[in-house]
Amino acid sequence: MSDVILQAKNLRKEFGGLVAVSDVSLDIQQGSLHSIIGPNGAGKTTFFNLISGKYRPTSGQVIFQGHDITHMPLHQRIHKGMGRSFQITNIFPNLTVLENVRLAVQAISDKTFNFWRSAAYFDGFIERATYVLSLVGLEKEINLPANLLPHGGKRKLELAMLLAPDPAILLLDEPTAGMASEQVPELIDTINAVRQQENKTIVMIEHNMNVVMGISDRISVMNMGEMLAEGSPSEIAGNSVVQEVYLGQLYDDVDEMAARGGPA
Ligand SMILES: Nc1ncnc2c1ncn2[C@@H]1O[C@H](COP(=O)(O)OP(=O)(O)OP(=O)(O)O)[C@@H](O)[C@H]1O
Ligand SMILES: [Mg+2]
Repeated sequence: MSDVILQAKNLRKEFGGLVAVSDVSLDIQQGSLHSIIGPNGAGKTTFFNLISGKYRPTSGQVIFQGHDITHMPLHQRIHKGMGRSFQITNIFPNLTVLENVRLAVQAISDKTFNFWRSAAYFDGFIERATYVLSLVGLEKEINLPANLLPHGGKRKLELAMLLAPDPAILLLDEPTAGMASEQVPELIDTINAVRQQENKTIVMIEHNMNVVMGISDRISVMNMGEMLAEGSPSEIAGNSVVQEVYLGQLYDDVDEMAARGGPA
């Protein structure tokens, strides 16, 4: 039990008559990369919103590092070590890559802006920002205005901003969405490197089955608000119920993988 970093206990979210998340329980192991897959509208993002504190659950609990955080506001969860990516990001396009990350570091450290703080105080932010940018492989681009980064670079910048306050867990909602397929492996390598070097726990919602099968320790499958299955990539690839749910949508990927004899 002690190596479970995050626990959902019977989490439920209703929107009017719609049950978006239906009594979901899930344990996330410390240091693991745990993917959540499932068809459109399955409730994956809503589940993230419950964990990150964007939404209050209708019922159920969220336990993080042994503490019940069910009623803790979003900003406090960030201070407690939870990093969550949003589809709409807060990149300032005209600031440099470094300035964007420095602000992300500062936002978490600084309660009130104080004009008279020492230069050394700000140097600390720059140092952390530079380090985080080297982790994601953007060290050469630090002085570039953020809007001049290619799409894949912007995704890395988002990751750097997420890592800036040194969270214990990262919640990534479809990190490869909208990326050209040739850029995907580089982002995945970056996520893997970050995870291994920094010993982060990562929970990732992702539709790209090759990515999911290649990178995950555990996979949970959601369908119609419920957790349908959980297992290792090969267990999930071979699960007939999962294949049924994916009929039409992602079935081909799973089928193709089974034909190859396992994940890529
Ligand atoms: N704020 C909201 N108000 C009302 N209904 C919502 C809200 N957010 C989500 N829903 C509904 O809850 C269900 C689950 O949506 P959710 O976005 O969690 O699915 P998802 O698994 O992330 O899908 P996708 O793969 O398309 O991102 C959907 O029917 C959606 O319309
Ligand atoms: Mg979603």
